[in-house]
Amino acid sequence: MEKIEPREELKPTGLIGISDKQIDFHFNTHYKGYVNKLNEILEKLETADRSKANQNYSEYRALKVEETFNHMGVVLHELYFENLKNGRGTKPGEKLTEMINKNFGSMEKWKEDFKACGTAHRGWALLVFDLSTGRLINNGLDAHNVYNLSNAIPLLVLDVYEHAYYVDYGPKRAPYLDAFLENVNWEVVNRRLERALRLQG
Ligand SMILES: [Fe+2]
Repeated sequence: MEKIEPREELKPTGLIGISDKQIDFHFNTHYKGYVNKLNEILEKLETADRSKANQNYSEYRALKVEETFNHMGVVLHELYFENLKNGRGTKPGEKLTEMINKNFGSMEKWKEDFKACGTAHRGWALLVFDLSTGRLINNGLDAHNVYNLSNAIPLLVLDVYEHAYYVDYGPKRAPYLDAFLENVNWEVVNRRLERALRLQG
């Protein structure tokens, strides 16, 4: 099976309020750690004994469960780094603004809810477009694979694990949430929304 390679081109530098050192640790240790583990799991899955699959415990079950953790660990980190890179001067597009106003009341109210979502969860805050209802939803995750909405496309991805901000802010998450919002590449978010709307048809 072809190995998954880390996407070096997504690594941001020169952000406002999130240091290159913080990003280096995050990208090189955490993100690449998920890439490596996912490759290891996929390799083991090739030969895992399907005839012994069991819901209490089996090697196959353990691999499938941890596949979701590491797969989403890779995907969410790539979306996170991508929506932070080269964002200076970008703005939410017309369609995104219209939908945020419709679904949250205003951009300010959306931000307030998004930050609350990032404060109330242990892993991630996502702004997603839900294909089932056509609505934007702030979706908080306690881990890469906990509380994800199944038919929703992530538009904006915020990592709130301590490893995302401890170098710069110690235990203070609030200033990191503000720094994140200062750095968002809205062009990336606008493009993801366009793609999600096309999928909905
Ligand atoms: Fe992370």
